[in-house]
Amino acid sequence: MIASVKTIDPALRTSSRSFEERGLRDFLGRPLCDLRISVIDRCNFRCHYCMPQEYSKRYTFLKETEWLSFDEIVRLAHLFAALGVSKIRLTGGEPLLRPRLPELIKELKRIPGIKDLAMTTNGSLVSEYAKALKEAGLDRITISLDTLDAALFRRMSGGNGRLEDVLEGIRRAEEADFDCIKINVVLQKSGNDHQILDLVRYFKGGKSILRFIEYMDVGNCNRWNIKDVVPSAEVVKTIHEHFPIKPAKSNYFGEVASRYQFLDGSGEVGFIPSVTQPFCRTCTRARLSTDGRMYMCLFSAEGVNLRAALRGGASDKNLLAIIQKTWQDRADRYSEQRAQLGTPSQFLPKVEMFQIGG
Ligand code: GTP
Ligand code: 5AD
Ligand code: SF4
Ligand code: SF4
Repeated sequence: MIASVKTIDPALRTSSRSFEERGLRDFLGRPLCDLRISVIDRCNFRCHYCMPQEYSKRYTFLKETEWLSFDEIVRLAHLFAALGVSKIRLTGGEPLLRPRLPELIKELKRIPGIKDLAMTTNGSLVSEYAKALKEAGLDRITISLDTLDAALFRRMSGGNGRLEDVLEGIRRAEEADFDCIKINVVLQKSGNDHQILDLVRYFKGGKSILRFIEYMDVGNCNRWNIKDVVPSAEVVKTIHEHFPIKPAKSNYFGEVASRYQFLDGSGEVGFIPSVTQPFCRTCTRARLSTDGRMYMCLFSAEGVNLRAALRGGASDKNLLAIIQKTWQDRADRYSEQRAQLGTPSQFLPKVEMFQIGG
């Protein structure tokens, strides 16, 4: 067990109040609802769109002492919950490489106000951990899977991943009975877009929800080019021609995926059109990197160093004030501005995807 975390000042514990009462809004009026926590910057895959092999050889990963400890993560999570966060998603790199992760999940699950605890993983280690994660209190799991072609899968993961491991991970997650399992597919033109219908056939009618994601210009190491993006509208059309679908309502305010239902009643499929149809207007997410920086946008260059404040002895009240002010000043809306920025995306300094977890 990790040492029990210092109890937060009860006066700060406002999570039982309704969202409108709390009312922490950013400069554009957007509420703070979700916290994405990256628990490790390392990964056992080397996907070209996130952490290409050549780049990772030059990159210095964080040392363990630079990671936020579990106590530090839990303390910050309490404060974010006090400010209105009700949903936490653990990310990486690959989150399951962080030792003793179920212990962190147990602590996060106990935070008043946290109603949804989820994780995004590459799936390679899920078969080993599914049961422990569920028992620790993880509500939902999302697994990345870009293709059902074993050779292509290996190539796309930089020669490191095995399709069979991920499929087994998905099966085990389904057996473990998470509230919801989602499968993320990042599509790249002439890369894996020929896999769309195979993936739909495989998952349609099953327990997991498939989602197609537009390839984004996160970070600088992936050499993103707009020509490689497959617009979600095209994917909707392709699927509709073979398996008719109709739009469905969002599950919650600010959901990034547009949901569609199969007309034959065999479940749903989602699309995340972050390049062609940005959703910044409803962006309610703050991000915490492994080394404790708070990022206001997936495309930010800099984050606010909460670890320095934590390790410098800041009180809950001080930390709360920093987080609150950072959110209130937030005016980020990169995806909406991308086209007018003038500077090509690859020349803008940006945090890398594996440092911040998507
Ligand atoms: P739920 O709706 O809670 O199931 O999860 P999610 O779709 O928000 O999280 P997930 O980690 O599965 O992310 C799916 C894709 O959406 C990934 O490619 C993320 O990088 C992307 N994404 C998530 N949040 C944002 C965001 O705020 N901005 C942009 N541009 N992309 C995002
Ligand atoms: N564009 C879109 N999605 C990405 N992901 C990683 N890199 C990119 C990118 N450049 C996805 C992962 C994972 C989620 C957190 O983000 O595949 O499913
Ligand atoms: Fe690892 Fe996920 Fe990045 Fe691929 S996309 S290298 S699995 S963190
Ligand atoms: Fe939010 Fe930035 Fe994504 Fe827009 S681009 S939705 S502001 S994280």
